[in-house]
Amino acid sequence: MPTTRSDCTALDAADALAHARARFALPDGVNYLDGNSLGAVPKGVAQRVAHVIEEEWGRGLIRSWNAAGWFEAPGRIGAKMAPMLGAAPHQVTITDTISINLYKAVVAAVRMRPDRRTIVAERGNFPSDNHIVDSIAETFGLSVRYAPAGAIAATIDRDTAVVELSHVNYRTAEIQDMAATTAAAHAAGALIVWDLAHSSGAVELHLDRDRADFAVGCGYKFLNGGPGAPSHIYVAERHHTHLQSPLTGWYSHKAPFAFRHDFERADGIKAMLCSTPPMLSLLAFETALEAYDGIAMSAVQAKGRALGDLMIKLYDERLARLGFGLSASRDGARRGNHVSITHAESYRIMQALIARGVIGDFRAPDVMRFGFGPLYVRFVDVFDAVEAIDDIMHKSDWKNFAPPESGAVT
Ligand SMILES: Cc1ncc(COP(=O)(O)O)c(C=O)c1O
Repeated sequence: MPTTRSDCTALDAADALAHARARFALPDGVNYLDGNSLGAVPKGVAQRVAHVIEEEWGRGLIRSWNAAGWFEAPGRIGAKMAPMLGAAPHQVTITDTISINLYKAVVAAVRMRPDRRTIVAERGNFPSDNHIVDSIAETFGLSVRYAPAGAIAATIDRDTAVVELSHVNYRTAEIQDMAATTAAAHAAGALIVWDLAHSSGAVELHLDRDRADFAVGCGYKFLNGGPGAPSHIYVAERHHTHLQSPLTGWYSHKAPFAFRHDFERADGIKAMLCSTPPMLSLLAFETALEAYDGIAMSAVQAKGRALGDLMIKLYDERLARLGFGLSASRDGARRGNHVSITHAESYRIMQALIARGVIGDFRAPDVMRFGFGPLYVRFVDVFDAVEAIDDIMHKSDWKNFAPPESGAVT
């Protein structure tokens, strides 16, 4: 029996996370399936930012660095989100961007393995990661061995200083086995840096249990922190005593307000800070995290998986015969929180969808990504999106949209 819309409303009625949608300020008439690029706005964020501007900044002025707890905010917020990563609180801080944190983490790890000359990285990872790794290799006279994610473990050898890869791939959403790949790196004496861009806030993570060395993640995707929200970085406690970030600013100094000219590294995770945090974004992110209060990451992952399973079922029933391909794992246990569908005209089809209020994104050359913000996407939204694609194809609506110009965002 083909899946009907009322099957999906029944799934929504039985959804234990359905209540969380009320925690978001979603615009009317929009079916938002792009939480993997930019999460929706949690309620309370606008008020918090207004309060910070009017009261803490407006009235408190410079005093708020102490009085409003600004100075300690990166560590305080890192500790708040640490359980979502399966990490003890003192190992996480909120700072910089994913790419900058990746740079700091990979260099810090390379410095812990001075006799080794190779970085192993994922061919098919998000390009920024590979640009960063290539730049580090050039600066430090190392070489990079690229391998597909599935062949990473077999590529690690006794010359590998650091392994860098994404836990959830940005195109296919394939999940890597963190425990197994980390163990393979450690067995060869290497360290591992995980990119959690598509994992944090989407899937269950156990960084401590799985013995991750370093990890970096995203604030603006599934964690809904807002455009350009600061990233998070995790460093396992066992590495804190040898932690040498390449970006030693005054915030990584043990006594920033002593204004000493010699550098003395801050203890612990603070060593991964560099400079003055963007306080409005940071505090917006702190309030955004409250959308997850009281919700277990196992339930979040289960919901995302169920939404993805539904999308794939509907793809089989309605889209496969229309010339689409599936670029996602059918095994829900190995799939993160988005489903990628391919078509030679993906860009124009996505534009036609967006014109109808169904927002996903496009990744060149031919991928349409549909991400399921598990706290606010409903099963019926997935149904409506597939219905819209089906209709666009039958009416050839996509032909009304121009082919991509280079540089287009979505
Ligand atoms: C997997 C992955 N890594 C890194 C990045 C780069 O993020 P940023 O622009 O915050 O450095 C992204 C951005 O989407 C990403 O998806």
